[in-house]
Amino acid sequence: MYTDRQLLDMAKNAMKYSYSPYSHFAVGACVLMKDGSVFTGCNIENSSYGATICAERAAVCNAVSSGYKDFKAIAIVGGLNSTGINGITYPCGICRQVLSEFSADMYVIAARSEDDYDMRRLSEFLPASFGAGQME
Ligand code: THU
Repeated sequence: MYTDRQLLDMAKNAMKYSYSPYSHFAVGACVLMKDGSVFTGCNIENSSYGATICAERAAVCNAVSSGYKDFKAIAIVGGLNSTGINGITYPCGICRQVLSEFSADMYVIAARSEDDYDMRRLSEFLPASFGAGQME
């Protein structure tokens, strides 16, 4: 199994592939699956801004399209492109909802560095969320 620091290292490495010519804000994410597999993602912007995909969702798409759906944790790092990195990057609302589709009890590790991060359960970041249960 990976440590928080290793997950954050992989997220930071994924930032290198960020395509962010509009915001110049690079984000990397690394998801840890319950079986110990990991997948990474970066943000991919678009000239039609609304078509931008966040790093967290890119990582989720990588995992799910490889046959993995049981998430244990996600590590997230972001900063301006040049990146001295600055504040903690928290997952946006859309990404919180996408993550909750699969594992509401997963851990979210939102970081500014490998040593400075805020780790909480997703259910704390997205309380009283909408889910499949509401449609029964
Ligand atoms: N972004 C992410 O990749 N994840 C987040 O949780 C917040 C925002 C990206 C989207 C866009 O490319 C840039 O950061 C600025 O919003």
